[in-house]
Amino acid sequence: MTTPIVVGNWKMNTTADQARQLAEQICSQVTERALDTRTTVVLCPPFVNLSAVGEVIEDRPIALGAQNCWSEPYGAFTGEISAAMLRAVGCRYVIVGHSERRTIFREDDQLIVRKLERVWEEKLVPILCIGETLAERQLHQTWDVLSRQLALVSAHSSRTRAWICAYEPVWAIGTGIAATAEEIEQAHAYLRSFLDAHGCHHVPLLYGGSVTEENAASIAAIAHVDGVLVGGASLVAERFLRIIQAQANA
Ligand code: PGA
Repeated sequence: MTTPIVVGNWKMNTTADQARQLAEQICSQVTERALDTRTTVVLCPPFVNLSAVGEVIEDRPIALGAQNCWSEPYGAFTGEISAAMLRAVGCRYVIVGHSERRTIFREDDQLIVRKLERVWEEKLVPILCIGETLAERQLHQTWDVLSRQLALVSAHSSRTRAWICAYEPVWAIGTGIAATAEEIEQAHAYLRSFLDAHGCHHVPLLYGGSVTEENAASIAAIAHVDGVLVGGASLVAERFLRIIQAQANA
């Protein structure tokens, strides 16, 4: 593993002015506190604010990411955004298969793997999100669900390219109830051995789901946690910075 990765997923929040201001606050503090040498920080604003945030972080040690992209390279797909467009505005990372996309927008594993292919074609780094629902966990199906969500990717000829896997239990996202240290440790141990067995030793494993400045240090200390994907707490600069700090200190 190299440096821990901290991704801020702003979801459908911020206007352009708010996005610029938030990026500015995060950037200046990351540099001032010398956190850039010990972490990789990625900001994922809404599509329409990518350029505004890109201007703020240009030449600074923070990377730009998108929250989604479409599965075809171009064409008649009204309302969609291609991976090439994301590269052209300066993105280096793209979140793919977030549980909100899977649930609200009915994205399935076949669609998600086509999106990964587009992202790889543009030499961007996909951040693939996987995770079980509460019902699946209660039915003891967690490992089956995670293996199924990884099946197409772990058999793909491009799996040796750069990508990141984010374990985000659906029941922990936006609920204020993060998985316990034990649950995270078990899931990450399972996923690490699954990925290693499929030639993906190089793939960092992030945890996501109600990460806060309070639980960040204990999550950072868990084996096989290579970073975090943060939603709500990434919208307040000081909270996000404390999470970055926890990863830097781990
Ligand atoms: P949360 O979101 O930190 O607000 O739970 C995480 C995510 O959706 O990636």
